[in-house]
Amino acid sequence: MHIDQLSATELTSQLETLKEQYDALRGANLALDLTRGKPSTEQVALSNALDGILGDDFLAANGIDARNYGGLEGLEEARALFGDVLGTPADETLIGGNSSLTLMYNTIEFALTDGLRGPASAWGNSDTVKFLCPTPGYDRHFALCEYLGIEMIAVPMLDSGPDMDTIEALVKQDSAIKGLWCVPRFSNPTGGVYSDATVERIARLGLIASDHFLVMWDNAYAVHSLYDDAPELASIRTYCQQHNTLNNVFQFGSTSKVTFAGAGVAFLATSIENLKAFKNHLAFRTIGPDKVNQLRHTRFLSGSGQLAEHMAAHAALIRPRFECVIDSLARELDGTGMGAWSSPRGGYFISFNTLPGLAREVVALAETIGVKLTPAGATYPYGKDPKDCNIRLSPTYPSLDDVQAAITAFIVCVKIASLNARLKP
Ligand SMILES: Cc1ncc(COP(=O)(O)O)c(C=O)c1O
Repeated sequence: MHIDQLSATELTSQLETLKEQYDALRGANLALDLTRGKPSTEQVALSNALDGILGDDFLAANGIDARNYGGLEGLEEARALFGDVLGTPADETLIGGNSSLTLMYNTIEFALTDGLRGPASAWGNSDTVKFLCPTPGYDRHFALCEYLGIEMIAVPMLDSGPDMDTIEALVKQDSAIKGLWCVPRFSNPTGGVYSDATVERIARLGLIASDHFLVMWDNAYAVHSLYDDAPELASIRTYCQQHNTLNNVFQFGSTSKVTFAGAGVAFLATSIENLKAFKNHLAFRTIGPDKVNQLRHTRFLSGSGQLAEHMAAHAALIRPRFECVIDSLARELDGTGMGAWSSPRGGYFISFNTLPGLAREVVALAETIGVKLTPAGATYPYGKDPKDCNIRLSPTYPSLDDVQAAITAFIVCVKIASLNARLKP
């Protein structure tokens, strides 16, 4: 029954039963963790063949010895393979290091200090630099901005993607806004996929925003579908070509959740002009990336249907965990008015909204009985969720049994917090 239809007596009696369940859970000494968007051990094991795949053949397709210095933009075959993931040509794609977050950091730092078009264009020439942050969003994007002194403006995330009416109005009126964070496919944490119309409007932002505005297109989950019918993402590059805004977009991705999260390959793509400028900057940081790992990855993932097959094996492992969470939430909370949640078709997260003002309490209640959740507020700039309602659930790492135990305990906490709130005068 819906919480609003329960009488005070019914609320109290349900709460008593729930408190008994809560005490039993406390006695069970649980040690469960739904905080980490990490691939499980079985998932990383899908790529164990990377180790040793090269034998003693270290030569790339064009004869370059991957063991030696150089090749700032990465091996040609890696640029082609991961360009395909981002939907960009090889010559607009750069392979660098193992972490896309590092590439994002380097890009923003470069735009701040050096400037995309030389010193006069550096964002840092102005006292204030602002970024638009669709929320709920990825905590590390927000942490990066905070660390670099970039002011964050939260904008709502809709089912179609970021609220473009708000974004367009803001960029038109405030020239200090220099960037927009996007996780366009299976967004972190909602799992939503931006609609075609949203992708096109984002591609057009370069026409109305201040000079050297950048869309940070973090396509971390580009190939991470859980179902064959998962929504596709429109090509931002195609729209940028149409609107002549290729210089306003940097795309990012990595194999952190394809192969080894700690030893994968990261990539970025942008216009040829931007890439040239970025490479000039990068050359001060490194003589070249780890090309041996790039070669391992291309040998492991190239070939017709290879990547898709590999990602289907990931999906087979994590889909039951997602379904366990979503089925449990539906069974226990549908129609109660005590929460709303996303049902993603891919990615790594499920977003849960409590009744307003209860997220912190739910996280604390869960922690007391041994269930760790991502801190409430983490999905908002500065860790401040104005409605204190969003909680990010990450079901990929724990075993299926642990996911079931954790979500069962979580639901008890949600119900207790919700009923308590209704009983308060
Ligand atoms: C949206 C998003 N971007 C980037 C990352 C991190 O990527 P990488 O491991 O390539 O640094 C994550 C990890 O959870 C993520 O969710």
